[in-house]
Parts: sequence; structure tokens; C-alpha cells
Amino acid sequence: MKQIKNHTLLSALCDNLDNTIAVTNPADQTLIGHVQAHSREEVEATILRARDAQKAWAKTTAKQRAAILMRWYELLMENQEDLARIMTLEQGKPLAESRGEVAYGASFVQWFAEEGKRAYGETIPTPLADRRIMTIKQPVGVAAAITPWNFPIAMITRKAAPALAAGCSFVAKPAIQTPLSAYAVVELARQAGLPDDLLAVVTSEDAPMIGDVFCNSTHIQKISFTGSTNVGRILMKQSAESVKRVSMELGGNAPFIVFDDADIDLAVKGAITSKFRNAGQTCVCANRFYVHDAVYEEFVHKFSLAVDELTVGNGLDDDVVIGPLIDDNAKLKIKSLLDQALQQGATVSAGGDDLGGQFFEPTVLTHVSHSMDIVQAEIFGPIAPVIRFSDDEELIEMANDTIYGLASYFYSKDINRIFKIAEALDYGMVGVNEGVISTEVAPFGGVKQSGIGREGARQGIDEYLNTKYICLGSM
Ligand code: SIN
Repeated sequence: MKQIKNHTLLSALCDNLDNTIAVTNPADQTLIGHVQAHSREEVEATILRARDAQKAWAKTTAKQRAAILMRWYELLMENQEDLARIMTLEQGKPLAESRGEVAYGASFVQWFAEEGKRAYGETIPTPLADRRIMTIKQPVGVAAAITPWNFPIAMITRKAAPALAAGCSFVAKPAIQTPLSAYAVVELARQAGLPDDLLAVVTSEDAPMIGDVFCNSTHIQKISFTGSTNVGRILMKQSAESVKRVSMELGGNAPFIVFDDADIDLAVKGAITSKFRNAGQTCVCANRFYVHDAVYEEFVHKFSLAVDELTVGNGLDDDVVIGPLIDDNAKLKIKSLLDQALQQGATVSAGGDDLGGQFFEPTVLTHVSHSMDIVQAEIFGPIAPVIRFSDDEELIEMANDTIYGLASYFYSKDINRIFKIAEALDYGMVGVNEGVISTEVAPFGGVKQSGIGREGARQGIDEYLNTKYICLGSM
């Protein structure tokens, strides 16, 4: 922690070891510090304070809220280096990626500071001469979020910024592996002038307890979750009782397709960033590669060479591009998927080795078929199974043959094919000749069992707004 310059960012660290959660570095398992473990009563009290704070916040103008959010954005960027170091220490991703995530996370704050001013209602032509009809947009109230460890800052700001801009208060439960980044961004919001209790973090190793309190609280009107489809289903069921609005950004199984007319070097470059960003631990990572027969050998050769060049290690070291997996369970899952694939007939074309600790070599698998478990599962790690195809119709069937529908990618230079395939893919997001497509200006979200709702873009703020219809009668 010596290199963190702004020590207020670490204000969440506790000295007292009672009721705390240990935070460790996934690169070497060293202890970084402890954060508070909140009890059920403390979580409930936090929600009540958020409810009270929201009432005054909802009365401020969008312009006043924007000024605070803009200041928060500036502070996030001014502290980019410290935030990136904290993130790499607790999450493991390489520093360059952490810096990128701080900027990505901050971009949502900047974007929604502006979007809050554009939460327009409508006037609607009346069917009755003595009436006037209009709508206004109002904040839903208290919003709560459960956020994952793979993007410890961006998944909080992508939800908190639209909520705050809309006039809501916000309570977040970050993953226990990465709470320090969450507390640090909240500390900067406080320094930016955000009134107390409007943005709070609660932490506990008992995630089901927090899920239960959030979903059943009648003081919370909205739940936003990023994580697995299984947990999303549980939260949706629990939220049904109090009929809460939900946004769910769930699992993915992204196909990455290389057609026979693709620029292969471009496709290899896109495949590397799409598959190996964050050591393959993103919901939108390419999960399975379909490569046309005519370019299969060339793609596999170039892709395997590029994968062999990737340096694995501690994310704080300069040349490292792949950090550790988040924990032992993540590593066990990868190893078991790999073993299964090898037993089912796949062969290793690059990597394949367990590098000890929580490190795993980036791996390319060939002789893979669409029915193998590794193709059907969300891998969430640095393994790239490559499948041959020869027919576009059959390809689309395989690409859509999953319960998931988050991101998909394909490479082609043929404009007719580009439109046809982009429209045929059953996914919320399609990258054409591009392996990383996330940006604050575009709607992020899935179809099928990958989720409900959109984050970022102009759509993102609607998730935190109610539309109220006002009828002026007897005019
Ligand atoms: C995710 O994996 O959940 C988010 C990835 C992104 O925003 O690009």
C-alpha cells in the first residue's frame, strides 16, 4: 500500500479485527487489510438513512446534481493511479487494465451527469378537448446494487451514476474480494460534495443475507445486479414479493466468428483482447471461437503464436498482460473444464499449463466440437476453444444455441453478410470487426437468460426513473 498517495481512499480499512472481512491479493495471497462486516441490522439502518437522504436529493435540480457528479468524475480521474493500484492489488488485473477501468468507470459518471439533465417527459395530443396530457420522469427512490469482483469500479459507477443523476439514493454491496475499490469511489463521491447517506457501501461475507434484505426491503424500489444467471434468478424470485424493478446483467457465452473473407490479422488482434482481457473473466469475453474452414489453419496458427506471447504474472509488474484468476475456485473450474475438453478429444494448440498459485496459462484448444461442455459453459477464464465451420446457416444455429444472449463478435468484410449476421445473432450486443465494444455511450445488456435492462447510454437512466402521467381535466 506504500505507493497509494491519497490515503483517504483507504479509509475503509479496519484495524480492529472483530467483525471484519480480510482482503487479500490474488497474485500472492498476501493480506491487504480488513473491511467491516456489516450485520443485518446495520444493512437495514443504512437503507433507512438512504431513504431519508433521497427525499432531499430528489428535490435538487438535475443541474445541481450534475455539478456534484462532474466533480466526482474529476476526482476519479485525478486519483486514477491510486485507484488503479488498489484495484490491481485486490483484483489482480494488470495495472494498464486497471487504469483503463478507472477511466471507463469514471466515464459513466461524466455521461450520466449530463443525461440527468435530459430526463424529459412528454406532452401528448389529447383525445378530449377539455384535457391536457403530459408525463414527467421521477426517481424510483432507493436503488440497491450487488456488484461483481471482475470490474470493481465500473460496475458500481455504471449503476450508481444514473441512479444519483435521476435523483435516487444508492446502496451497493460489492463483491467481498474487491471491497476497497468500492469504498474508495464512495469516498471520492463524498469529497465531491455528495450529501451523506446518498451513496453507501455495505459489506458482508454473508451475501445471501444482504440479497435477502435488499430484495425484501419495502424501502428499496430497485435492484440492479451484475453476476451469474443463477444468482440473478434467485434475486428476481426474492424481489417478486415486493414487486421491485430489477436490472439484471447476467452470464454470457459469447461466440467469436471468423468468416472466410475476414481480415485474419485483425481477427487475431480482436480475439486476443476479447478473450484475454481481465484473464478471460468478463461476461462479454469471447467464450467460443467459430472459424471458417478456409481460414481455420491460418487463424489458429497466428492466434496460437499471439497467445504464446502473452506474459502472465503479478499485475503490478510492467510487462504483464494476464494477471491471476480471482481465487482457487476459479482456477479449479478452469482446470476441470480443460481436463473434460481434453478427455472429449480437444487438443492444446497453445498454453495449457497450470502456472501455480492462481495463475493459468492462456490456452488455445483445437479439435473442439460445438457439443463439448467447454463450449456450452461460461468459461470465465483464459481458455479459447476453436471450432471449424463451413456453412453460414449452420453457424448461426450453433452461435444461437445457448441460453445466453449477451455479447457476440464476428469478422467479415462483406457488407451484405455483416447486416445479415448482425441481425441473425440472438444477442444484446454485436461487435463487427471489433473485439471490445463497451463504452458509456452505448446500451450494454443482454437478451434471453443474460439479463433484463440496459446500462450506460441514454437508456441507462430510465432504469432509475418512473414515468408519471398527469392529466389536466376540465380545461
Ligand atoms: C462485465 O463483464 O460484466 C462487464 C464488462 C464490460 O463492461 O465491458
